[in-house]
Amino acid sequence: MSLVLGIETSCDETSAAVVEDGKKVLSNIVSSQIDIHNKYGGVVPELACRRHIEIINPIVAEAVDKANIKFADINAVAVTNGPGLIGALLVGASFGKALSYSLNIPLIPVNHLEAHIFAIGLEISAMPFPFVCLLVSGGHTSLYLVKDYGRYEELGRTYDDAAGEAYDKVAKMLNLGYPGGPVIDKLALKGNPNAFNFPRAIKDSLDFSFSGLKTAVMEYVKGMKVSGLEEKINLSDISASFQQAVVDVLVSKAISSARKNGSKHIVIAGGVAANSQLRRELKEKAAKEGIDVHIPSQVYCTDNAAMIAGIGYQKLIRNKIAELDLNPQAGLSLSDW
Ligand code: KG4
Ligand code: ZN
Repeated sequence: MSLVLGIETSCDETSAAVVEDGKKVLSNIVSSQIDIHNKYGGVVPELACRRHIEIINPIVAEAVDKANIKFADINAVAVTNGPGLIGALLVGASFGKALSYSLNIPLIPVNHLEAHIFAIGLEISAMPFPFVCLLVSGGHTSLYLVKDYGRYEELGRTYDDAAGEAYDKVAKMLNLGYPGGPVIDKLALKGNPNAFNFPRAIKDSLDFSFSGLKTAVMEYVKGMKVSGLEEKINLSDISASFQQAVVDVLVSKAISSARKNGSKHIVIAGGVAANSQLRRELKEKAAKEGIDVHIPSQVYCTDNAAMIAGIGYQKLIRNKIAELDLNPQAGLSLSDW
């Protein structure tokens, strides 16, 4: 039996988790900083780093406590080493190094994107290789063909905004606070998805673009303000129409990727994979084509340390460990092992 402690501090969640043999989550403590960043309409990096420093110690202690183990029982420590906010990454990586040194256990470097891709591994018995992964988060929107642990082919990516970033920016324009995804998801339930015909960009490839969609919403909101009609803006209809445009594009490209690559499995990952409409529509449309969709529980879609420990275990058993001079990288990209 192998116990991996995962630590995640790449953005605005401080999280620590203990996972047994890469599967069984014994604890997964996630402390969100939403209350700190909400009033600014986005993450303020300096505030995020300071908060990570303040709470990393108690969060890790709580994860160990909840798992009902002692520090001495931990076999390895896995840390996010990018991509993310550099100051935030440094907090988790430094903490992980100190634990690795003091407990004399291996330090495992984990790519945050890779952790999202394999988060579903905490909930299914075996990864359905080869599969298409639609990774949709606040910083990334990409499609990958995942052939094995550590073997990736990028099929498409966004030219500009990530899907989650578009949610956050549209929410900011509409004064809905941060993060935008959950609130727009909720408002959309009450709105008309055909009230506005917002653009669906790039029809002929697997790449994405969301900045035109964001601008279309912004132009409408600006127009209403200039005409003194701000009060008449229907937040539910805008949310529903915006979300329909995002979901249409994500669903159709994920399905074409699977079709083109002869894969019968699609995995979705990242914060936007928590979206209720995306989960529902992708499942329905893929089923018509005989494609299985694997969707992590919401808590494993948004940032969490269980996913870091999960893929950390796969790296541990393949001896992919780091030295204590490990340097986190803000722009780390997903690459083969
Ligand atoms: O994966 P994540 O927690 O952090 C990054 O690695 O970026 O993703 C955060 C993003 C935010 O942009 C947030 O608005 C979005 O995920 N998000 C959602 C939902 N929940 C979170 N987007 C759409 N619908 C949701 N229910
Ligand atoms: Zn993430």
